[in-house]
Amino acid sequence: MKRVLMVCLGNICRSPLAEGILRSKIDTNEVLVESAGTGGWHIGELPDQRSIEVAQIHQIDISYQRCRKFTYADFENYDLIYVMDSSNLKDVLRLARNKQDEQKVHLILNEMDPNQNMDVPDPYYGGDSGFENVFQMLDEACEVISYKLK
Ligand code: 4NP
Repeated sequence: MKRVLMVCLGNICRSPLAEGILRSKIDTNEVLVESAGTGGWHIGELPDQRSIEVAQIHQIDISYQRCRKFTYADFENYDLIYVMDSSNLKDVLRLARNKQDEQKVHLILNEMDPNQNMDVPDPYYGGDSGFENVFQMLDEACEVISYKLK
C-alpha cells in the first residue's frame, strides 16, 4: 500500500483539503492518505469551518479529520510527503535524517507545474474566496498525483 502525507502549517486549512481531495480520486484500499501540520497550535481540532464548507460544496467530507503535528517519524510511515509551500518545505526538511527522507518531500504544485516551486497560498487570514481558490489548485494537483499512483 502506498502511503501519502499532506503537510501544511496549521493542518486545519490546506492539508485537510488536500487529504480529502486526493482520497476522493484514489482507491482508499490501495492508497493511504493522511495529513499533518508543522505547527502545533490546533492539535486535536477539526479542520477550519471554511475548509469543511468548501469541501462539502464539492461533495467531499473532511469533518472526520483531526489536526496532528508532523514529526520525523512520519518519514518512516509515508512514501510521499507533499507540502503546500516553501516554508513548509523548509520546516519538514529540517527534520529529515538522511537523503532518503529528503527525497520523499515535494511541493504539491510542482505536480502540475514542474519546477515552478509555486506555493498554495495560506487562506487562514483571508476571506472565503481564498478557500475555493485553494480547492481548485489542490484539485488539479491531486488529479495528477492520482494518475501517478495508479
Ligand atoms: P493551514 O493554515 O496551514 O493551511 O492549516 C493555517 C491555519 C492556522 C494557522 C496558520 C496557518 N495558525 O497560525 O493558527
